[in-house]
Amino acid sequence: MSRRTPRLSLPLALLLAACAPTPDSLPPAAALPEPQSAGALLLQSHCAYCHGAPPPATHRAETWPGVVYRMQTNLVTKAYAPLTEAELETLIGYLQRNAGSVDSE
Ligand code: HEC
Repeated sequence: MSRRTPRLSLPLALLLAACAPTPDSLPPAAALPEPQSAGALLLQSHCAYCHGAPPPATHRAETWPGVVYRMQTNLVTKAYAPLTEAELETLIGYLQRNAGSVDSE
């Protein structure tokens, strides 16, 4: 009998493990680039229910839209309010401006 090996990276596994939906579990705003920007606020308000808000440098600019659209599906599946088109544009722009040069997995 074989079991599927979980393919989550260790940092993400830790984030998911620490997934208490309390404000205390959110990273401090100052830990993100452009902490007061609309994009950083969207990341904290919509992307930290299930895991900590992911730092923008964890993906390349080319990769972020696909990740965000996949997460939009996660939001809908879990019955959280999806981001509006305008919010998606703001969030993706923010992530791309602060993106990294490699995709960390
Ligand atoms: C409803 C729960 C939920 C919400 C809300 C959510 N995520 Fe996720 N996220 C997951 C799950 C589950 C995984 C692991 C499986 C996967 O990668 O799809 C994950 C994994 C990730 C990863 C690591 C995998 C990868 O492709 O790099 C990133 C980055 C990420 N999420 C970003 C975001 C962003 C940005 C948002 C906000 C737009 C968001 N998440 C909102 C559930 C969620």
